[in-house]
Amino acid sequence: MEQRFIASNAQPQQDAYQTKWQAPSNIALVKYWGKTPPQLPKNASLSFTLSDAQTQTEVRFSPLGAPTKKVTFSILFEGEEKPSFRPKLQAFFDHIIAYQPFLLHYDVAISSHNTFPHSSGIASSASSMAALAACLVDLESQLSPMDEKRKLEKISFLARLGSGSACRSVQGPTMAWGTHPSVVASSDLMAVPVNDIHAIFATYCDTILLVDKGQKQVSSTLGHKLMHNHPYAAQRFAQANSQLAALLPVLKDGNLDAFITIVEKEALDLHAMMMTSDPYFILMQPNTLHIINAVWQFRSETKIPLCFTLDAGANVHLLYPSNVSESVKAFIGSDLLQFCQNRQCVHDAVGTGIKKC
Ligand code: PMV
Repeated sequence: MEQRFIASNAQPQQDAYQTKWQAPSNIALVKYWGKTPPQLPKNASLSFTLSDAQTQTEVRFSPLGAPTKKVTFSILFEGEEKPSFRPKLQAFFDHIIAYQPFLLHYDVAISSHNTFPHSSGIASSASSMAALAACLVDLESQLSPMDEKRKLEKISFLARLGSGSACRSVQGPTMAWGTHPSVVASSDLMAVPVNDIHAIFATYCDTILLVDKGQKQVSSTLGHKLMHNHPYAAQRFAQANSQLAALLPVLKDGNLDAFITIVEKEALDLHAMMMTSDPYFILMQPNTLHIINAVWQFRSETKIPLCFTLDAGANVHLLYPSNVSESVKAFIGSDLLQFCQNRQCVHDAVGTGIKKC
């Protein structure tokens, strides 16, 4: 139990309280893959916060006559009731109740929607858990005043308990999560901003090529579990930490060649873990490989610093600075959209984190 995150002074009030927050998705450059309870990462990870792929969540807290044993909540997603979301949310509330015991005195009515296309294959757990955590901490700060820094820390802390990578969506543009000797104030409990970043990275774009819009073949819950008895696990955790250490000076100096090497290597290392786990998976599809090869050829011919990264799926994230976006977008249209489902992609860019709506 993390004593410093327990809201022991927050007393429930008689009035209802309503609040609305939005939170973005994030894209990891150094990947989190492998954890121990309670949602503590086996290695440090680092991500760019995004700006357009957002979840907007409104929560109405209505006081109950008497406190309940479990948090009473309802969930509407894009205007519809979502029974399938309940187990994950119930587990989340069961987990965080120790840190926000006042929630037992409220009915918590959640209504949320995404700003990115429905069932696009883009993971929304990071943005949705960060937006919900922001609403919960907003109520807490009404009940017991908190300064801005503490609020952001608590939001990241709670978001992490909902979905690990969500803790990195709270601020931006660059966030690190997991204790690491080279990241000041780094912690396994929450993400912290990484400062001293070259200005070029504030202009970075992320175009997500939708190779497969279906359900994820391997949930991240299962994926993290597969690292438990993985023959290369210890090596992978050490390597992620050393790749993060190598990335920090690159982010500071704006060395794009070195950036590309580390980022693409991390993406392939993540997929290598899945290919060598038991059971094993290939999450890339033929079109994922077509895109990677086309990106490598484009980069070698044009010297434009375009690179790719992957999450635990077949979709490809293309990362590039905005000063080359015209050439990159032309290349995407002429050469890459043919490999996407319904020729679909989502253009996003680096952003700054949660916002009250
Ligand atoms: O936060 P989770 O449990 O959905 O795991 C996310 C894992 C990756 O997206 C593959 C990597 C990362 O660091 O975001």
